Amino acid sequence: MEYSTVTDPGAAGRELNQLAPIYEAVFAEPPYLEGPRDVAEFLERYQREHKTAGFRLVLARDADGLAGFAYGLPLASGTGWWSGFLTASLSEEFTREDGRRTFVVMELAVLAERRGRGVGRALHAALLDGITGAERITLAVRPEAPASAWYERIGYEVVGLTRPWDGAPVYRCMIKQHHALPAPAEPVPSPSLS
Ligand SMILES: CC(C)(COP(=O)(O)OP(=O)(O)OC[C@H]1O[C@@H](n2cnc3c(N)ncnc32)[C@H](O)[C@@H]1OP(=O)(O)O)[C@@H](O)C(=O)NCCC(=O)NCCS
Repeated sequence: MEYSTVTDPGAAGRELNQLAPIYEAVFAEPPYLEGPRDVAEFLERYQREHKTAGFRLVLARDADGLAGFAYGLPLASGTGWWSGFLTASLSEEFTREDGRRTFVVMELAVLAERRGRGVGRALHAALLDGITGAERITLAVRPEAPASAWYERIGYEVVGLTRPWDGAPVYRCMIKQHHALPAPAEPVPSPSLS
């Protein structure tokens, strides 16, 4: 299996046609049971997200084609990610974001027939590898999905249950500390000559 990481927005945009059928097949499964409207929402969301600074996409591919993908991006400072919690009250310090502090794993999907062979784990590792500046990784997963236990197995802890928007299903928000590469230093202003 070959894993490739895409960070260029143009290249990430061009991969969408290949991702869509994987998304459609994987999230048609229980408990998601997603249909054409959800897939259209995914396409619309991806069109916005892949242009965000810090976006990363990882593809798992072999001779049989694409087996899975993962992508994520940093939380923006005005994010609503930490709103809508049903079971936890989060401190201001915890929810503070600056566009770098927290990286969100937005989607991780491996075709059913390719699971259980380390592809998900490798996709996740490649997604996190090379993130600069983030001190923690977060994600939201349906508690009843097998992926919820899978994320615990790879080191995530539960923050609480959340309903991210009105009418949304309940999600389990999870978090994992991350030792990222240091963020590039701010340019030091050159001393002015007088
Ligand atoms: C979650 C998912 C990506 C995992 O992919 P995968 O390729 O099967 O995962 P891996 O083979 O790398 O599994 C790694 C480890 O987790 C274990 N594991 C697999 N399924 C598990 C489960 N349901 N619960 C706990 N552990 C599990 C494996 O035994 C393996 O352990 P090991 O490394 O000690 O041998 C895949 O199941 C998937 O696409 N699910 C549907 C989509 C989804 O729910 N995505 C997440 C929500 S965004």
